[in-house]
Amino acid sequence: MTSDEIRETFLAFFEKHAHKRQRSGSLVPAAFDPSVLLTTAGMHPLKAYFMGLEAPPAPRLTSCQKCFRTPDIDNVGVTARHLTFFEMLGNFSIGDYFKQGAVEFAWDLTLNGFGFKPEDVWATVFEGDPAMGIGPDEEAIEAWLSVGVPRERIVLCPASENFWWSGETGPCGPCSELYLDRGVEWGEPDDLPGGENERFLEFWNLVFMQFDQDEQKQLTPLPNQNIDTGMGLNRMAVILQDVETIFDTDQFLPLIALGRELATVAEPEDRSLRILADHSRGMTFLIADGVVPSNEDRGYVLRRLMRRAIQHGRRLGITGSFLPRYVDVVLDTMGAAYPELHAEKDRILKWVLAEEEGFGRTLEQGMALLTDHLSKGTLDAAAAFQLHDTFGFPVEMTIEVAEEAGVTVDEAGFKTLMDEQRLRSAGGVGGKGGRVGGTADLVRGLSTEPTTFVGYESLEQHTTVAAVTERDGKTFVKLAESPFYAQGGGQVSDAGTIACDGGDCEARVADVLRAGDDQALEVELVTGTLKEGERVTATVDRTARHAIAANHTATHLLHAALRQTLGDHVSQAGSYVGPDKLRFDFNHTQRLTDAERAQVEDQINAWVLGNHPVRSMSTTLDEARALGAMALFGEKYGDVVRMVEVGDGSFSRELCGGTHVRSTAEIGLVKILSEGSSAANVRRIEAITGPAAVTLLREHDAALSGAATALRTQPAGVVDAITALQAKAKAAAKAGGGTDAGTVDRLAATATDTDGIAVVAASVDGVGGKDLAELTDHVRGKLGDDGVAVLGSAVDGKVALVVAAGPGAIARGVKAGAVVKVAAQVVGGGGGGKDSMAQAGGRDPGKLADALDAARAAIQAALA
Ligand code: SER
Repeated sequence: MTSDEIRETFLAFFEKHAHKRQRSGSLVPAAFDPSVLLTTAGMHPLKAYFMGLEAPPAPRLTSCQKCFRTPDIDNVGVTARHLTFFEMLGNFSIGDYFKQGAVEFAWDLTLNGFGFKPEDVWATVFEGDPAMGIGPDEEAIEAWLSVGVPRERIVLCPASENFWWSGETGPCGPCSELYLDRGVEWGEPDDLPGGENERFLEFWNLVFMQFDQDEQKQLTPLPNQNIDTGMGLNRMAVILQDVETIFDTDQFLPLIALGRELATVAEPEDRSLRILADHSRGMTFLIADGVVPSNEDRGYVLRRLMRRAIQHGRRLGITGSFLPRYVDVVLDTMGAAYPELHAEKDRILKWVLAEEEGFGRTLEQGMALLTDHLSKGTLDAAAAFQLHDTFGFPVEMTIEVAEEAGVTVDEAGFKTLMDEQRLRSAGGVGGKGGRVGGTADLVRGLSTEPTTFVGYESLEQHTTVAAVTERDGKTFVKLAESPFYAQGGGQVSDAGTIACDGGDCEARVADVLRAGDDQALEVELVTGTLKEGERVTATVDRTARHAIAANHTATHLLHAALRQTLGDHVSQAGSYVGPDKLRFDFNHTQRLTDAERAQVEDQINAWVLGNHPVRSMSTTLDEARALGAMALFGEKYGDVVRMVEVGDGSFSRELCGGTHVRSTAEIGLVKILSEGSSAANVRRIEAITGPAAVTLLREHDAALSGAATALRTQPAGVVDAITALQAKAKAAAKAGGGTDAGTVDRLAATATDTDGIAVVAASVDGVGGKDLAELTDHVRGKLGDDGVAVLGSAVDGKVALVVAAGPGAIARGVKAGAVVKVAAQVVGGGGGGKDSMAQAGGRDPGKLADALDAARAAIQAALA
């Protein structure tokens, strides 16, 4: 049975039994689920259904889900069956059938669909745990007995084996696993299922999802008893294709073969071949789901995978670029089942090549450094940090290479260095926001009847207060119908008011909390109180809502214009849509050129002027995809989706739950404020629209007019005027030479008093001619009328001397010409001048200090 056949056998079986077939969710979990970085199980995209936050499209579902398990990166290639990326088949019941039903389906498909012999199949069940307050799972034992599994092939196991948690918090429950006994030739006669042995292979996990675990590890029953099962498709292929390892199955053989073809070393290591096969699949699927390499979170997982693959490629002696070859094979083997791989091929290749090129540059040097350290038998934290920081080695990779050489790395020390670096660049690592579960609890706790959102159609709604509660000094309200948009998809919550029918109460809406499709309002009472059952009018702040709508539609236009201008690799990486502005993060490597930025802005404004209608419609996810609608990576979409299109939809179609203007002309004007980098490979644009844009342009106008007036020119002449001023200032500074104010002050400060006359006699470095005369004059000016300044300087092997005397000093007999003569003689030269100012030259710079002393003595003599 090929992997494709296994997948189809499973899904078709459950479809036949009234399960709705679901497309795989993204590897990037829904924004709703902060508990995991990447989707690790089939139930993750369905979590909101299990928790009762959203209604499922059907009570019975089946899917083949893309999964990624980061902790297994180190195991890949070492064991026979570990992978990072894999497919998980599952059937799910949301409050429909429970243990008995799940066991019956599993047994039927195992025997009749996959053809296992009943005597080879074993089941494990939860033995119970007093600490958890749960006894042995008799119900599951009964169910297995009822389909004909003898009691001796039902094995009790502890929570570590037979209790499954979807995350630290959230849905969980006891489980029952199916094992295939491959025969005693694979192990020992007394082997049992439950452990990792080669004889018993686990192939299916049936989770009886019935609890919700909170932060204190307390279990509370979920609204429904649910079923979540998981069968690893690739492990199933090992069994059904009767091969030894997962890498010998049909999805992997072509990838292993490619490695052998590319390798140039005499004996390519299996481990490297397997790592390349696994990691190339992982990176291809991660990029297709919108992950880009970076140093944080899932971007780091991807980067680590890529760099480890590149390093193992080098170990196989593969030179030059080779990852694109692997991507091609992944597309060949997986593209039929996952069309997104073909759709995203350009993007996948772009990132793969970028990483190969970027890391390829430092890999050799880093390896040389690492090998050097290892040959000395140590690798301290500083070296590991340098490898990370300068050469881009993921620390896990460094540790792995070091371990192979029998050297341990100081991981704690490395972590300290990383923390220090983070502190240095503080602000880079932002908080991830609180757990959404708290909000969900609050919203559901108010009332289980969901609020109907009517805010697409109306901004004012006459409705009823369904529930009110106080928490931490805040008031929360649930309305039967609400026109207020709850923050989501980047768009902020609406502001507004609630007023009681009788006019005896009024409240301001401070926040709108979202829990799936449901919501609650945080309100601040202005007058009176709000009571359950009260009739009220809820009114959205129109001005703010319109500004938000204009910014939201503009965000779609910006997205479209960026793709037109820069290419289809541009995809949304985040957004903020508020009444004040819009912010759009997107995947792109380089700063936009001025021309690109202008082109994007022009294109958006052309669409605004085109006054295109903006329409939203409900459609199926498949239909929306077929129409080329853009879906936000990581966002979870139900089967029925809301699609927003502009004009004929040819340039902008997006899946979106936000509020929009009715036609583009309502936006008025779009002005890009800034374009910059927000994270590795992510650019950020901020823009404003409508009145805010007009206000900004008016402010710019006023600033320009003010500048023109100050420069005594016209606005159009401002740049020329400033350029001219700058040139003038530069020339002035140059002409001043050493005569700048600082030097003057410094020299003046050296003055000594000689009989009531302030005398400066000093040497200055490298100032000659006119500059020296000017400087001396300035220093003398600083000293006042009763001052004398004597400055000497050695320039080009000669001496220049200048003396300046103030009127008071001259009146007391000090003559500059006479003083300079005395001094000049000492340095073997001569000169002269007026009483107030005189210059001289000399040939002996070594005597400059003596000359200055002589000048001082001459001044003293003249005063006496
Ligand atoms: N969620 C369970 C698992 O991942 C069963 O689907 O094993």
